[in-house]
Amino acid sequence: LLLLFTSAQPLTYDLDDRKGLGRVFDGIGGLSGGGATSRLLVNYAEPYRSQILDYLFKPNFGASLHILKVEIGGDAQTTDGTEPSHMHYENDENYFRGYEWWLMKEAKKRNPNITLIGLPWAFPGWVGNGKNWPYDFPDITASYVVNWILGAKQYHDLDIQYVGIWNERNFDSKYIKVLRETLDKVDLTDVGIIAADGGWTIAETMLADSALNYSVQVIGAHYPGTTTIPEALQTQKTLWSSEDYSTFNNAIGGGCWARILNQNYVNGNMTATIAWNLVASYYNELPFGRDGLMTANEPWSGYYAVESPIWITAHTTQFTQPGWTYLQTVGHLDQGGSYVALTDGEGNLTVVIETMTHNHSVCIRPPLLPYKVTPQKATFQLQGSFANIKKLQVWRSQFNFETKRPSFFEKLAPVKLLNGSFTLDLDEDEVYTLTTLTTGQKGSYSDPPASATFPKSYKDDFSVRNPPFTEAPNFADQTGVFEYHINLTDPGPHIFTLRQVVTQRPVTWVADADQTISVLGDHKWQNITVTCDVYMEKSNTGGAYVAARVNKGGGFVRGAEGVFFWVFTDGTYRVTNDLAGERVLAEGQAGTHEYRWYTLSLTVEGQYASGKLNGYLLWKNAVVLTPKNGWAAIGTRSFELAQFDNFAVVAQ
Ligand code: GAL
Repeated sequence: LLLLFTSAQPLTYDLDDRKGLGRVFDGIGGLSGGGATSRLLVNYAEPYRSQILDYLFKPNFGASLHILKVEIGGDAQTTDGTEPSHMHYENDENYFRGYEWWLMKEAKKRNPNITLIGLPWAFPGWVGNGKNWPYDFPDITASYVVNWILGAKQYHDLDIQYVGIWNERNFDSKYIKVLRETLDKVDLTDVGIIAADGGWTIAETMLADSALNYSVQVIGAHYPGTTTIPEALQTQKTLWSSEDYSTFNNAIGGGCWARILNQNYVNGNMTATIAWNLVASYYNELPFGRDGLMTANEPWSGYYAVESPIWITAHTTQFTQPGWTYLQTVGHLDQGGSYVALTDGEGNLTVVIETMTHNHSVCIRPPLLPYKVTPQKATFQLQGSFANIKKLQVWRSQFNFETKRPSFFEKLAPVKLLNGSFTLDLDEDEVYTLTTLTTGQKGSYSDPPASATFPKSYKDDFSVRNPPFTEAPNFADQTGVFEYHINLTDPGPHIFTLRQVVTQRPVTWVADADQTISVLGDHKWQNITVTCDVYMEKSNTGGAYVAARVNKGGGFVRGAEGVFFWVFTDGTYRVTNDLAGERVLAEGQAGTHEYRWYTLSLTVEGQYASGKLNGYLLWKNAVVLTPKNGWAAIGTRSFELAQFDNFAVVAQ
């Protein structure tokens, strides 16, 4: 018996369509949002911005993504910042906020066939009618979401193909049915509903509720660890990993991505996998720094980095398209690793093989059980419609963890098939594509400018009459939304301002602060002066601030510490060590009121801070022991209107 297992013959894997095919492939995608993950991308100068977009979307160039999923902004914190809603208020509609519209158009320009998906993480407060819950008024929530889809078409000629429910939060069967009806009512019958962007368990509810089952087109699970549940298969619905990856984009991140792109289908029958996130374009010190397919978070320098996940994506995306079909003959390799094969039904065949070892392919979640991969010879025998294929193009990535000299997406000499078969010597941590397609390209541009820290001296007077985006460059809103604003009634020099516009606590996804805040700059900054003109628009309890050394954002924003210099419309000022305003370092009278402009200036040097109001010293020698460093920031005391002008920071 032992002999059986020590055979020197390489194992043979059939690639065969004679017994029919597997599931239809829906594509590989990236996710912008959930949240503000593309924030810094938009401010890159050309040609770098277009180059980054080419690496992501251009067919036969880089990741050549098939799917772009974006957040439907909800004015609330959704991981790395807030994204603006198309309806801040009930009677407000604006389809030009934020950058997701722009991103979808850029993606579409490069790949007209790209699949577009929208999903809310959070909702403006009015959608929940003041409750932190979006399902009490399903008609309102559904029209809010459907408006976004209609707006995409009306203002940007974008066809959204799929829409989701509420990211990684409870789903509500009633709401899903109402959403389906609302879509159908406006002839958006082709827009599929993905549910529920969490675990697989909605499948159980679907099996028991035929109207729900009818309403859902795709079951989308997050971080499924390549597996599904029997109930999901029983629904016979399309299954997707509608969010996955979220792993630091070094070689192990690339390894994670290689493994799950194959095994999400092999183990879990998932026909699409979408990476969180598309491109890491947010300050590194925000949560999940660099968890994107590539990194582009230095618009001030132009530096960006094309990381291994881009080339791992290319192994599948450049040689398949949504609408191709998996063969039934996919699976695991005898000595570890996996293979998938897909066909366009017109004779073309693409095979993707990965041999990622356990420790070199761990993703952020879920935990990965131990398994072994060793070098192996593998023979593939083409059968059925593929039996007569004579030659396959070969693309290879070798991670080479030992030498740390990887080679990604290298085109090798084609293999000639003998009696429809070919044999590969597979090492550990490799990815191969073998394909009948002769297209494919490892796209490249000359190196971008060198990486550089955020400029030590930075100013913005927000005087842009026709800004390309609603947000000012480099400001990363962490609670609230700060938009360019034109204040025509201002008698003085403050016509063009930046305005905080969220006036009610949103239906949140994580714990937004009770104050609004937008951060900017270099998290390593210690000694700085932050100056800004502020204009409060809320009487009695209104307030605005400038801040330095702000240490936290994202889902941790409520706990942000730093030095916050506040003025209030009740005529007082305060200096606090935290955003919550609980640790007071100094306070007193300032004579400040609503509807007037004041210049606030905050200087922090070593352990001391001082503040000026309209150029006059108001307080000094406030002792600041921690934090030692952090971003500059502006914001308001609550969800209230306030304007900002002539922002300036000078760091040492
Ligand atoms: C997901 C979430 C994303 C992001 C990611 C970080 O659960 O949907 O928005 O927070 O986790 O790993």
